[in-house]
Amino acid sequence: MDGLIEKAAQAVLGSKLTLALTGAGISVESGIPDFRSKGGLWDRYDPEEYASIYSFQKNPEKVWLMLREMEEIVDKARPNAAHIGLAELEHMGLLRSVITQNVDNLHQEAGSKDVIEYHGNSRSLTCLWCNRHYDYTEKKGEYPPYCACGKILKPDVVFFGEAIPIEAMTRSYQLASICQALLIIGTSAVVSPFNVLPRQAKQAGATIIEINLEKTVLSDHITDILLQGKATEMVSKLVSAAKKIKGL
Ligand code: APR
Repeated sequence: MDGLIEKAAQAVLGSKLTLALTGAGISVESGIPDFRSKGGLWDRYDPEEYASIYSFQKNPEKVWLMLREMEEIVDKARPNAAHIGLAELEHMGLLRSVITQNVDNLHQEAGSKDVIEYHGNSRSLTCLWCNRHYDYTEKKGEYPPYCACGKILKPDVVFFGEAIPIEAMTRSYQLASICQALLIIGTSAVVSPFNVLPRQAKQAGATIIEINLEKTVLSDHITDILLQGKATEMVSKLVSAAKKIKGL
């Protein structure tokens, strides 16, 4: 594995523009369950019933049962060595942006400055009926949270059936089209359109470095270097190897 880590570090050091694409797996070691692993969120909540915009419009109280459980877990979560390692790479000038599917804000809390939230974020809420916006602190502990107009508020996370925020989508696609190295960390890469980005980067000639507990749909056809293992371990080893090569 050390040879692969070294190869990945060389690719990052030789790249003029490196991106990181992250999914729920990067936050599992912070105590936040992912979605599709055994015991993940979708084992306990059917995404059709709890994570689609239609289910929210039909029965917001029911969807808030899951949202409340997730919010209480995320509130207790802190950045782990993988989030911190990516922030360090950015600080060293070796990582341009993190494009994340996560809404837990842990990349920002770890110190990453350029974070593109592909699936929105949970730090603000919107009323689908009167379009009022609230910061989540204004509604903390209120379940379900109500708008002044009397309707139940929706967090600004992207539900199935909703559009990706246009700026996030555009900027992510542009960066994926010009990057020279791509770190893909903790994602099963099964959700579209996020899963277009690795293929776009591959087509652009980028070196694709995948860090994941298990092989994914990318591993055999898109990935150039698979660092199979825990995100905290692999990212930390990658950062150490890059520092060693740079003589830091
Ligand atoms: N280190 C590295 N990888 C891990 C770890 C870990 N500690 N723990 C889990 N993983 C891997 C799993 O093996 C899995 O391949 O992370 C991946 C997580 O995949 P998913 O649970 O499908 O999460 P994600 O890819 O982020 O889902 C994408 O689907 O439901 C929607 O909106 C939701 O943003 C989410 C999207």
